[in-house]
Amino acid sequence: MILIDASGLTATRPNRPLFAGVSLTISDGDRVGVVGLNGCGKSTLLRMLGRELAPEAGEVRWGRGARIGFLTQQPQLPEGTVRDAVGAGWEGEAMLDRLGMAALIDARTDELSGGQAKRVALARLLVGEYEALILDEPTNHLDLDAIKFLEEWLAAYRGGLVLVTHDRHVLDRVTTKVLEIDRGTAYVHMPATRHAGSGYAAYLAGRAEREERAEVAEQVRKNLAVRELAWLRRGAPARTAKPKARIATATALVNGRPQAAARQGDLALSMGSQRLGSKGIEVSDVRFAWPDGSPVLARVSVAFEPGDRVGIVGPNGAGKSTLLNLVAGRLTPSAGEIERGATVKIGYFDQLSSGLDPAQRVREAVAGDKGEPSLADVILMKRFWFDGDAQFAPISTLSGGERRRLQLLLTLVEQPNVLLLDEPTNDLDVDTLRALETALDNFPGCAVVISHDRWFLDRIATHVLAFEGDSQVRWFEGNFSEYEAWRHKELGSSADQPHRIKYKPLAR
Ligand SMILES: Nc1ncnc2c1ncn2[C@@H]1O[C@H](COP(=O)(O)OP(=O)(O)OP(=O)(O)O)[C@@H](O)[C@H]1O
Ligand SMILES: [Mg+2]
Repeated sequence: MILIDASGLTATRPNRPLFAGVSLTISDGDRVGVVGLNGCGKSTLLRMLGRELAPEAGEVRWGRGARIGFLTQQPQLPEGTVRDAVGAGWEGEAMLDRLGMAALIDARTDELSGGQAKRVALARLLVGEYEALILDEPTNHLDLDAIKFLEEWLAAYRGGLVLVTHDRHVLDRVTTKVLEIDRGTAYVHMPATRHAGSGYAAYLAGRAEREERAEVAEQVRKNLAVRELAWLRRGAPARTAKPKARIATATALVNGRPQAAARQGDLALSMGSQRLGSKGIEVSDVRFAWPDGSPVLARVSVAFEPGDRVGIVGPNGAGKSTLLNLVAGRLTPSAGEIERGATVKIGYFDQLSSGLDPAQRVREAVAGDKGEPSLADVILMKRFWFDGDAQFAPISTLSGGERRRLQLLLTLVEQPNVLLLDEPTNDLDVDTLRALETALDNFPGCAVVISHDRWFLDRIATHVLAFEGDSQVRWFEGNFSEYEAWRHKELGSSADQPHRIKYKPLAR
């Protein structure tokens, strides 16, 4: 059964087109991933498919009686408690549990953090009865167990699914088709047969092929242009005899250009940093409990040293952000000590972009107290892909990923030598992620990164700090895959034994 049938969809933004002529049909069992650079219009397209936005041109039709569930990138919940939001039955409670929200079932929805609200909104959709689901970045703020659960759930879903995600694992595991938006044009990629790999694999192959074709076409054009130019130049008298049409073709060939790159230059994240001495940050025997007495961390000792790339992993609510906040000096430990080396300069990237003022324009945020951006600020904005009109965009209109990119700029511009990044990969597109990975590789200081992105963790982390329940943390000398393999073996043979947790020795 056809659930959603869209044809010729078009969207524009002030001064520029977003996309034009996008057509897509979604039937039972189709699981479509939508990919493209931050700001290319993915959320805009989803809102059209989800009845939230009328297309400027084109049409969307929905199957008769088809119920469509829509998770927006920053969802709003109805007033009341979390329990009200997911429904009173056991299914809602079980789903909240799978998504790490069981403890907050009686919380009021207007008191939840953005990440918590997103998880509740997702739980609400997954227990509802929908013929089709439209999900915008559903894995943001989910921990690994929840992502794996969602991945399974979606792979088994029988209805129609449209999904925006930057999680390469999820794309590969879940999608049967991929819709790619590239410079305003949409391309649909799907495997030759239902069993010949994922939509994601088809997309990667299709994109590579398209790029190759463009290169070949450009080479052909250049060769022809050289020949036609030689012909045009063959003496003035001959020219009078030259047919006008051929002259026009030749001129077009010579003046032709390859399609412009989607973005100007590489994303230049490396900012330099002030030299970090031999001492980083030492956390000794730190405990932390909230004022109401609920403990978060019990006896945590860990040292972050120059050159370390530490990936922090663990379930939602385990205290990862709390630890980062303690290290950053934004919270005070209930007991224990945190020592920071004399040269330490911390750059802190918070999970929810809460430092950004939606009423400001990009250039005002970058200029800070100066009010007007300096020349250096303008260059800086360009390096972060905020050029031309983008510098004047109010932060409230930025897409999810554009906001994160601005937040990265504001974090790195201070030239920190200890980077504390709380889920920096949420919302970022693959190109930006790659640039971030490279910048972290070359970063001379120390980086501590909370992430649930397996690909990213494997790429950057030299050490893993794992929250494994009971307010305990484990330091693991090795990368994330090694940690997972080790944990698998350990849990297979014996249950987790808290007393065997090893702390990282303070002196190495
Ligand atoms: N109300 C608005 N006024 C002006 N521009 C807007 C408005 N809303 C969105 N935009 C711009 O439209 C573009 C597309 O936004 P959209 O949210 O659809 O992107 P996206 O592909 O979902 O990006 P991301 O991957 O970052 O989520 C962005 O550049 C955004 O800044
Ligand atoms: Mg979006």
